[in-house]
Amino acid sequence: TYVVTENCIKCKYTDCVEVCPVDCFYEGETMLIINPDECIDCGVCEAECPAGAILPDTQPNTEFWVELANTYSGQWPNITSKIAPLADADSYKDEAGKYDKYFS
Ligand code: SF4
Ligand code: F3S
Repeated sequence: TYVVTENCIKCKYTDCVEVCPVDCFYEGETMLIINPDECIDCGVCEAECPAGAILPDTQPNTEFWVELANTYSGQWPNITSKIAPLADADSYKDEAGKYDKYFS
């Protein structure tokens, strides 16, 4: 599966949802997740994210984010169209430690 990681938090550019052929993105308050059971591993979303938040789960340090996606896939609503990024998204884009500070 592909997985949304920390860089999405406080940004939510949502360019990713426009290209997903199976509409498997789900929206939380501060970030999106990919439902690992629905992702077909096409990889097209990875290059679309301006924050570089999307990675294949074969990359190091992605386990935490896959687990988070599994937790919230059944709870957060499906998102299938691009929406406006969160306020000041560009200023949060390269910040470290966003999960601890902002995730909800
Ligand atoms: Fe959707 Fe493909 Fe990205 Fe999986 S890898 S979330 S199927 S665009
Ligand atoms: Fe998040 Fe990047 Fe999509 S910031 S909403 S994973 S385009």
